[in-house]
Amino acid sequence: MDHVITFQPAGKIIKVRQGTNVLNAARKAGVYIPTRCEGKANCLMCKIKISEQYESALSSISDVEKRKLGASINEGIRLSCQTIILDDVEVTIPEDPLKAAIRKQLEAARNQEHDELW
Ligand code: FES
Repeated sequence: MDHVITFQPAGKIIKVRQGTNVLNAARKAGVYIPTRCEGKANCLMCKIKISEQYESALSSISDVEKRKLGASINEGIRLSCQTIILDDVEVTIPEDPLKAAIRKQLEAARNQEHDELW
């Protein structure tokens, strides 16, 4: 049975077989999720965010995810390499923290520039 998975913020949509993990689905869709351990739940780089409405479309949170992710599980964070697709679902790839910091600095500089012109 196939399921539709949507990757945000890219908006990429792909069909995958039930039982595919999110990391492999992302690779198939050409969506980049960083990894260093190749799916062994060691690097914690493959985080994704799931909204509450899609929790049942994915495998339940494993013990290894609970141990590795701690309280961030309550914010909908999962490890894409450990998360199996069971139904149609939408997942969000969180912005890289370094890129987010640079983006915020650029926005602040742009706003300051704008204020100085007026
Ligand atoms: S790929 Fe390393 S924790 Fe998922």
